[in-house]
Amino acid sequence: MDAVETAQIKDRMKFEAARKSPPEDFPQLPPIPAGRYTDPKFLRLERELVWKRAWLYACHADQIANLGDWMLVRNTGSPVIVLRDLSGDFKAFYNTCQHRGAPLVTEESGNGRGFVCGYHGWSYTLDGKLTAVRDKRDFTDLDFSCHSLKPLRCETIGKLVFINEDAEAEPLREHLGPMAGELEQYQFEKLDFVESRSYEVECNVKVLIDAFLEVYHLKSIHQKSVDRFLDHRGMTASLWPNGHSRMVTPNKRPDWQDPGTIGMPKVDGVTEIPRDNNVSYMIYPNFVMPPSDSGIPLLQFWPTGDRTCRVVSTWIAPDHDPEKPHPKWEERAANWERILYEDLQFAPQIQESLQSPGFVGMPLNYQERRIYHWHEELDRRIGANRIPEGLAVEKVLSPWVEA
Ligand code: FES
Ligand SMILES: [Fe+2]
Repeated sequence: MDAVETAQIKDRMKFEAARKSPPEDFPQLPPIPAGRYTDPKFLRLERELVWKRAWLYACHADQIANLGDWMLVRNTGSPVIVLRDLSGDFKAFYNTCQHRGAPLVTEESGNGRGFVCGYHGWSYTLDGKLTAVRDKRDFTDLDFSCHSLKPLRCETIGKLVFINEDAEAEPLREHLGPMAGELEQYQFEKLDFVESRSYEVECNVKVLIDAFLEVYHLKSIHQKSVDRFLDHRGMTASLWPNGHSRMVTPNKRPDWQDPGTIGMPKVDGVTEIPRDNNVSYMIYPNFVMPPSDSGIPLLQFWPTGDRTCRVVSTWIAPDHDPEKPHPKWEERAANWERILYEDLQFAPQIQESLQSPGFVGMPLNYQERRIYHWHEELDRRIGANRIPEGLAVEKVLSPWVEA
């Protein structure tokens, strides 16, 4: 972030802290219909047209560090092998043999020069090419070139590996728009994998995504943690194209430093705003990331059913040696997990409410506008004409989207 942008964000935080009402021209946000979290038809459209076509974080490069390393990724809903080929490039294929669909790998990760299907022994290279078929004489005119493994799009931001099931998707960097340049300061190519944990939660995935798009809840559920140092009333949000967004929340005391990170290795070049405030990005639809110069937790929210989801939390950090982790990591990760549990605590009950006649829709306030922006994008991706009656959200935030 350059000097102009830094000054702008500081002004915006001052404005937010001092205002007595939303900005005059800010629209009234229509309620979000509860059915968007429960209606099977709506959720099917969401799955097919949004999740199956989105750029989704798959893994960290350190998890497939050597040539021929591969990892099985199931979070996206399809079985996918993400691998590093013999030239060091990242590739992704469905874990699906092109004979009769058996899995090529059944372990979570491994290393090899190719894959041999466990069912009838068809063999593939790391580039997905079919090279050998048992009893080939019994097939008539089998064209090997027509039976390569089915690839998925696979692109990286530094060591973060993303996949997309949509062959036509625009390149990740273009898709990120204004965020792409801003993210460069964190130098993802230098941030090592520290650890990853997952949590199964009984609610529709959007119940949790919503929770990570606002800081309105700090005073209640994070009273004893985050609220002690963040001033939620100064939060400024940027809504970006394609549903992405960012919020910047000032520290209560400008000179505050997280004591849990003092002395840990840092990346140079992280600018003033993310260094001295709490910045949090949303890469649409499910990737939340509050960066700091001494490490970043990456959160992904995955639907595992209409009423269940998985949260995956991964820490990445500069100069991390897995053999000799910095002594502060244990406590840092434990503190983060405590905050996560605060966020997850009401989710199953919220889901119950969403399914009961006791709840029809959510009135969102100005502070919660990133949630509304997220939902507008959901409708844009599904296509307004396909949305079941009564479940669409009205488009009101376009003038507030910063290109
Ligand atoms: S299903 Fe893989 S070889 Fe038959
Ligand atoms: Fe929270």
